[in-house]
Amino acid sequence: MYHGDCVRVMSRMPRESVDVVVTSPPYNIGLQYGTYKDRRAEEEYLDWMVAVATGIKRVMRPDASFFLNITGSSVMPWLPFELLVRLRPLFRLQNHITWIKSISIGDDSVGHFKPIRSDRFLHRNHEHIFHLTGTGNVPLKRLSVGVPFKDKTNISRRNHAQDLRCRGDSWFIPYETVHDRSQKFHHPGTFPVMLPRMCIRLHGVHAPVVLDPFMGTGTTLLAADAEGGRGLGIDLDPRYVAIARQRLQGARKAARAAAG
Ligand SMILES: C[S@@+](CC[C@H](N)C(=O)[O-])C[C@H]1O[C@@H](n2cnc3c(N)ncnc32)[C@H](O)[C@@H]1O
Repeated sequence: MYHGDCVRVMSRMPRESVDVVVTSPPYNIGLQYGTYKDRRAEEEYLDWMVAVATGIKRVMRPDASFFLNITGSSVMPWLPFELLVRLRPLFRLQNHITWIKSISIGDDSVGHFKPIRSDRFLHRNHEHIFHLTGTGNVPLKRLSVGVPFKDKTNISRRNHAQDLRCRGDSWFIPYETVHDRSQKFHHPGTFPVMLPRMCIRLHGVHAPVVLDPFMGTGTTLLAADAEGGRGLGIDLDPRYVAIARQRLQGARKAARAAAG
């Protein structure tokens, strides 16, 4: 874990040393972080994110995956797409995954989201996960996040080796139900640990080196641990680094206890 600015820290890391990057940068939508001010002029934000992505590209192995979780807001809906266009000279967009936080099926609803009071905007129930690679040809282990066939006759009819099909690019990953901010470590923008776990699994490399340049409370590091990888995390805020350290120690202790 590193406390500091990710562009500076990454510039001191060896080139081509990382297998998977999973990260969620500040979205420039005015969230209340401890140190970072999440409201810049749009051009300044985009230039900064291109500098971050250039640093990420330098440390990625040629066959690495970069999973970029981002969203816009109702008043700045273009931002993630503007960024994606700016990243085009650096990366191929190999997959565009939609992270669904909450969904209604018929009259039933599952998952959580932040409600919006508005007569013109819908609640935002999803975010993007842009899967960026250097070549667009990085092989993935699709079945490592696969789902069983609904119609089991597919298995013999189509000669599948196992009862698993590709999950597709819509991932329903709900937040755990929490009742106060302390359960989210007083951080305004965490993602569920299952999100980086699925990205790491999908990339499919054994014992991967996993980087999160905006690690916040260290969720990606917990995921790297759980998936048998080695996590590297960077954050500007010393309080978040301390929380990430505590979370990781707690998770390791729980894993040891569970293993007996
Ligand atoms: C969206 S949050 C990441 C949350 C993380 N995914 C989690 O689950 O806890 C973005 C983080 O980026 C950090 N940050 C902002 N600017 C940074 C910089 N230049 N270098 C490193 N971290 C930075 C903020 O302190 C914040 O914790």
